[in-house]
Amino acid sequence: MRRIAISVAASTMTLSLAGCGVLNATGDGASASPTKGNDITVGLLLPEKANTRYDKFDYPIIKNKVAELTGKQGKVEYLNANADAARQSGQMQKMIDDKVDVILVDAVDSHAIAGEVKKAKDAGIPVIAYDRLAEGPIDAYISFDNELVGEVQARSLLGALGSKAGLSDKIVMMNGSPTDPNAKQFKQGALSELTGHVTIAKSYDTTDWKPENAQANMAQAIAAIGKDNIAGVLAANDGMAGAVIKALKAYGVTTLPPITGQDAELDAVQRVLIGEQFMSVYKSYPEEAEAAAEMAVTKVQGKDIQFDALTQDKASSPTTKDIPSRLVQPVALTKKNIKDTVIADGIYTVGDICTPKYKAACEAAGLK
Ligand code: GAL
Repeated sequence: MRRIAISVAASTMTLSLAGCGVLNATGDGASASPTKGNDITVGLLLPEKANTRYDKFDYPIIKNKVAELTGKQGKVEYLNANADAARQSGQMQKMIDDKVDVILVDAVDSHAIAGEVKKAKDAGIPVIAYDRLAEGPIDAYISFDNELVGEVQARSLLGALGSKAGLSDKIVMMNGSPTDPNAKQFKQGALSELTGHVTIAKSYDTTDWKPENAQANMAQAIAAIGKDNIAGVLAANDGMAGAVIKALKAYGVTTLPPITGQDAELDAVQRVLIGEQFMSVYKSYPEEAEAAAEMAVTKVQGKDIQFDALTQDKASSPTTKDIPSRLVQPVALTKKNIKDTVIADGIYTVGDICTPKYKAACEAAGLK
């Protein structure tokens, strides 16, 4: 994984060529026999709805980018599995039956989907793993540097605890779903920073990333450790951070310990603003989703040179080695950089964030 992170800089440079029109060039001889024109269908399978990123950002960004790259002729067929792996397998079968030209799949269960990935390949449909590394014979993978996500969360948490942090500080770890390979990497990254510096008093893997499961686990942790003895919580995403806060409040905790998150969900950004949640991790959805659309379109159109330029990194899954990949860098989101991240990228407007309840905090943070 570390080697992958290092090569990201090189691929970022390559991608910037897209901005100069290189990737959009037509008739450039990039492939001897382009397989398809602009009239293409991209199948998009996303994993869940509890987290708003998928419906609100990933899908519309991919749809618009596919339209832009194909002179508005290309379509996206989108299905969401609602955290149900069996349903997602059925959805992938439907896309194979519909003979879509390429599939982008963000797996609910990266192992369980492998059979469908193989079926799609056998039917001649290329498959690109989106955000989570699906097992099986995939053609490419686009995601973030997920180990770095965990490192960034843990470093922020240690920073919030200050220079006096030590092994007497008890931390709760609220990790993601065991069926999501990203969750494992977030955890590994976080542990590489926390181990030896604080005590991890309780650690949970959260079934289906569901906030209600995280809330029940947090109630258990509070009962075991004591409500006043929790120095901080490493929550792997914002949905679970919200659930952790609910559990702490239900136990009467008024001064919340530092709590991390991920995804820059709107309510999490607002919590960060008022200091209820210490940080989130902002992952540029446009960067990931637009690159995914470019990978899908160039793959179908047989533009091999452009496709290779987009996938300069390498990743390996339990079934497949050296998958052409592209990994985008995440950044810590705190009160200080809300303007330079989610607002600068057009994810939210100041108006979205600064509703009446948050007006004073917005002014204090210079958000106007
Ligand atoms: C991860 C993804 C995160 C978050 C989480 C919960 O795989 O990388 O951004 O969305 O799933 O769905």
